[in-house]
Amino acid sequence: MAVSVVLLVGFVLLSVAEYGSSQTYNAIYNFGDSITDTGNLCTGGCPSWLTTGQLPYGDTYFGRPTGRCTNGRVIVDFLADHFGLPLLPPSKASGSDFKNGANMAIIGATTMDFGFFQSLGLGNSIWNNGPFDTQIQWFQQLMPSICGSDCKNYLNNSLFIVGEFGGNDYNAPLFGGKSITEVKGYVPQIIDKITNGVETLIGLGAVDIVVPGVLPIGCFPLYLTLYQSSNQDDYDENGCLKSFNSLSVYHNGLLKQGLAVVQSKYPAVRLMYGDFYSQVTQMVQSPGSFGNLL
Ligand SMILES: *[C@@H]1O[C@H](CO)[C@@H](O)[C@H](O)[C@H]1NC(C)=O
Repeated sequence: MAVSVVLLVGFVLLSVAEYGSSQTYNAIYNFGDSITDTGNLCTGGCPSWLTTGQLPYGDTYFGRPTGRCTNGRVIVDFLADHFGLPLLPPSKASGSDFKNGANMAIIGATTMDFGFFQSLGLGNSIWNNGPFDTQIQWFQQLMPSICGSDCKNYLNNSLFIVGEFGGNDYNAPLFGGKSITEVKGYVPQIIDKITNGVETLIGLGAVDIVVPGVLPIGCFPLYLTLYQSSNQDDYDENGCLKSFNSLSVYHNGLLKQGLAVVQSKYPAVRLMYGDFYSQVTQMVQSPGSFGNLL
């Protein structure tokens, strides 16, 4: 259930490009879930139970499954290309050189730790092998090999990408039968966890940080199938389920507020909100503009 979306387009490019073509980075460090995982479950070969470790995953670009949840590339691959950096190695690929980037993202990752879901009675349905805090620890373990004892003078020229986080935090309770109203009640805690993690990264030396919001989950085929309705009023003009999209909009609104608070505390940091929601809505509205020939 964690593997629900296939994204092909590097839409963060647009907002990053606004800083001009002169912007350069020495590295990209990414944290996230299946939207941006570049193979953390496949570093020793993909396990046979992993659907996304089998063709047709990987077939249009790499010619083989890499552990990415797409047939092509993920967003951070396009960003690495854009900045002339090598594709980010998954952080679990020991022996890799992480000086120009590392990708801590892992399929199924949630923002919240396991205990949060356990307290909701959802412990059994969580396949949670790398929540955000754990990913930050993975990054800290790599830091000595990346920047030795002078990390602030290295990471201040790196691009950090945090997320999106949240998709799996909402999948778990919703598919576990919790109401949207109840799930909306968790959003502030999830946003706090994200913004606290961002502050931790700032403490480690991050300066340029992109924090994407969640996608319009009411447009996902999975949601449209599970929560089909005979009432046309439940759908918006794009055929997406309004109530689930309103959860995403609520998350993104609180995220932007939370980021504004962090930004005001750290004026030297450049926090950039990544508007995945609008970009994916455009993809739903006009797939042809994004190269979808179907
Ligand atoms: C950050 O980067 C620049 C080089 O681009 C350097 O001169 C500066 O002192 C760095 N360190 C910190 C901690 O800001």
